[in-house]
Amino acid sequence: DEKSKLPLRPPIVTIMGHVDHGKTTLLDYIRKSSVAEKEHGGITQHIGAFSVKAPKSGKQITFLDTPGHAAFLKMRERGATVTDIVILVVAGDDSVMPQTKEAIKHVHAAGVELVVAINKCDKESVTEETIQKVYSDLGANEVYVEDYGGDIACVQVSGKSGLGVDTLEETLVAISEVLDLRSSPTAKVEGIVLESQVKKGVGATATVLVHNGTLKPGQVICAGTVFCKVKAMKDSSNKVIKEAGPGTPVEVTGWKELPASGDQVLQAESEQQAKQVAENRQKRAQLMQQMDDIK
Ligand code: GTP
Ligand code: NA
Ligand code: MG
Repeated sequence: DEKSKLPLRPPIVTIMGHVDHGKTTLLDYIRKSSVAEKEHGGITQHIGAFSVKAPKSGKQITFLDTPGHAAFLKMRERGATVTDIVILVVAGDDSVMPQTKEAIKHVHAAGVELVVAINKCDKESVTEETIQKVYSDLGANEVYVEDYGGDIACVQVSGKSGLGVDTLEETLVAISEVLDLRSSPTAKVEGIVLESQVKKGVGATATVLVHNGTLKPGQVICAGTVFCKVKAMKDSSNKVIKEAGPGTPVEVTGWKELPASGDQVLQAESEQQAKQVAENRQKRAQLMQQMDDIK
């Protein structure tokens, strides 16, 4: 079919789990051990999303950090998803906790792929017994991992020592191959705003995750009630880039005002058209507000 002719795009992976179970530590390990990061002198991550090449296959994976959650949840309210795969991080000695259950609910409702990462496996407090408990606690929440008679991939890792992290990355690659994720680099640009902020000396910036088309400086994009003529773009290691294809998170400058996290990004024909769209959306938002006030 037509879709099978399109090029593959990297999977978009969101990390979720209970507080302090090690989400950030795990992502930091993945980011710091990546080639791109080393090439750019280990600069601190400046946007809440990054892409790496998996160690064995060399395939690209895009990870969303915590700000990605907000966008994930906001999109879910609209019945859409920004992510292909969720890594559910569960500390091997703490097992399933309230926010683990919350994350499972979101995963099931959104119908996205799930990989369980049992984390902190470098600790002596993580034993065969505590891991069995994680399996059964997950099972009680309708997540049946491979070693518990189910088909959900489960990898034992340590974000601290790096144990199992390469296996986790290759598992993500394997799942994305089955998903056969494709999109068109030549289509009109579509994406989502992951986060936005005003930066000193730079002005309004937004991290945009492109999922269709190729974003370039000079293009005009709309997001919610604002628009932007793309001035410049930087990738997750702070490098200026001229093109961002499907699956690439980029920091975009040139906004008149800040777009909101979770806003859908669409390419416009011209600045004039973008302005029109933005104004119409503002009017509609005001109208909705007035109707709410009447209720
Ligand atoms: P929140 O974002 O606050 O929900 O936490 P988080 O899930 O991002 O956890 P974070 O990475 O901040 O780690 C919490 C604590 O656990 C820190 O003290 C980490 O050093 C520790 N930790 C995280 N991963 C590991 C691990 O694999 N092994 C060990 N021993 N400690 C870990
Ligand atoms: Na923490
Ligand atoms: Mg964290």
